Amino acid sequence: MDATRWMLAVPLALWMAGCEEGPPGADDPGLGGGAGAWLGGDGADAGGGGGHARGGTDEPPPPLDWRTTFTTVCASCHGAEAEGTAAAPQIRRPVAGFAEWVIRNGREPTGFPAAMPSFSAEVLPESALDGLIEWLRSFPKPADGEGLYEMYCRNCHGAGGDGGRVGVRITDELDDVHEQVREGEGGDRYGDQGEYMPAWSRDELTDADLDRIVEYLGDQPGGDDDDRADED
Ligand code: HEC
Ligand code: HEC
Repeated sequence: MDATRWMLAVPLALWMAGCEEGPPGADDPGLGGGAGAWLGGDGADAGGGGGHARGGTDEPPPPLDWRTTFTTVCASCHGAEAEGTAAAPQIRRPVAGFAEWVIRNGREPTGFPAAMPSFSAEVLPESALDGLIEWLRSFPKPADGEGLYEMYCRNCHGAGGDGGRVGVRITDELDDVHEQVREGEGGDRYGDQGEYMPAWSRDELTDADLDRIVEYLGDQPGGDDDDRADED
């Protein structure tokens, strides 16, 4: 329970209280109505400041728009396009189970000024959580090794594979990449910060994608194909 969480939770709760009279079918758990619809509502300009009162109207709920939800709730830290800022990492195409866990439970910061807040089901209903993750997963996948590394691996292994928050340099472990990525680490123990690594199937990351990542890492300082003497 830290300050960040309250700073965020309070305006959010106020904002949502203002929405309560709006949506029909609020107990419909599906994406078609209820909580998801109003969380996907017209709060776009409530982004940084909070406190933007909607003043209940009886207009029908707007179409689902998870970008708007993201803008309202997440973009102040993660950036408008989930590209990352000094406050929080890039989070495009996340692994669903892991992302859900982090969003529900929050997480202590590693190299960021404040923690990832936790979002309970009252603040972010299940349908909104699913919708947000689906939206994040709709960003296109990069075609080159650097872009792939930045999107999928950098948050944990650091710039150029130098160790990052898990402290595991991988520029000199390139023979292990394929096996490690298919198997991951720690199963679904998403909360084991520093010990959990997702597994990715070939549907998400092809063998060719992994070859490109390996090639990129090999050229980084300390990499297998790097001439600079930078051994540990
Ligand atoms: C107050 C700033 C803040 C807000 C608001 C915020 N986050 Fe975060 N988030 C963070 C920080 C900081 C981290 C990294 C924590 C760490 O260092 O492990 C993070 C991590 C994450 C991660 C894990 C990324 C990874 O690869 O480890 C996901 C997924 C995520 N946030 C999603 C969201 C979503 C979705 C929202 C909106 C519902 C949101 N966050 C709102 C600060 C924030
Ligand atoms: C959520 C954090 C996380 C992400 C994202 C992640 N890893 Fe890991 N990775 C880890 C952890 C933790 C370990 C260390 C496991 C251990 O202690 O043996 C690890 C280990 C590895 C290893 C083995 C290192 C060794 O010493 O043998 C390789 C190779 C690797 N990761 C590659 C990748 C690649 C490539 C990506 C991107 C496709 C990636 N990782 C994404 C957390 C992550």
